[in-house]
Amino acid sequence: MIKKGIILSGGLGTRMSPLTKAVNKQLLPIYDKPLIYYPLSIFLLAKIKNILIIVNKGQVDQYRKILPDGKRLGINIEFMEQSTPKGLPDAFILGKDFIGKDNVALILGDNFFYGQNLTKTLINNCKLKKGAKILLHKVSKPDLYGVAKIDKKNNVKKIIEKPKNYLSDLAVTGLYFFDNNVVKYARQLKPSKRGEIEITDLLNIYRSKGFLKADFIGRGGAWLDTGSIEDFYKTSAFVSAIENRQGFKIACIEEIALNNRWINKNDIRKAIKFYGNCIYSKYLSKLIN
Ligand code: G1P
Repeated sequence: MIKKGIILSGGLGTRMSPLTKAVNKQLLPIYDKPLIYYPLSIFLLAKIKNILIIVNKGQVDQYRKILPDGKRLGINIEFMEQSTPKGLPDAFILGKDFIGKDNVALILGDNFFYGQNLTKTLINNCKLKKGAKILLHKVSKPDLYGVAKIDKKNNVKKIIEKPKNYLSDLAVTGLYFFDNNVVKYARQLKPSKRGEIEITDLLNIYRSKGFLKADFIGRGGAWLDTGSIEDFYKTSAFVSAIENRQGFKIACIEEIALNNRWINKNDIRKAIKFYGNCIYSKYLSKLIN
């Protein structure tokens, strides 16, 4: 079972400068809430209550303004600063004490997931006992991502980071499920040509041992990347279209916590006070009235 999750929310966000010069990318808005709410909501839907958020050096205070701790959501949120981005698997080296003897999920702070069967998929993958699991999604430009080739039983046979030659159209999304060996394996990694340790190399350790499986978000689901300004606005437009059409909010963290019965109506009232007079608060008050 996976009951712990790490959100890797560091990175310099250089592709979005000057927007990211003063403010961390994950605190910028995707439509009506900060980007960090979206990966956080994924862990809440997966019923993960112990969460470590890794942020850039000097940025914890910014985060604490919006996520003081997890109490408001009935969960535990810890923060940790990363002095320099050293690659995604650094999350497991930095998070060693947080992980302890447990299995752990990792989500990249700029990944957006949405879909009808998502909660079921998440909960299913959190049942992982041994090995590692990745979530794949079909994309039209696989060369921008890690790409996987699988067999009929969803075992990953090959995985390449941003392949120059076509391998498959199945991109590796930024949500991963690992057994506790991940801490040990992350430490064995050597930096790649770009000077960072690579998630694909880490996954390849599991694959070479026959312990890397794949699952899918499926056709009905969306996986969007918010790497560039263009993608950022496209994701915002997606959220705005769905929320305004259907009248519910995507990634309303208090709503998920309430549905999980981790908090009660009184906690929602406190959240309304915290946010002040805004549309988000109006939505929260509708939930309890
Ligand atoms: C990273 C991973 C890549 C994965 C992607 C998902 O790429 O290295 O394997 O497909 O996240 O968002 P990056 O965004 O660092 O280029």
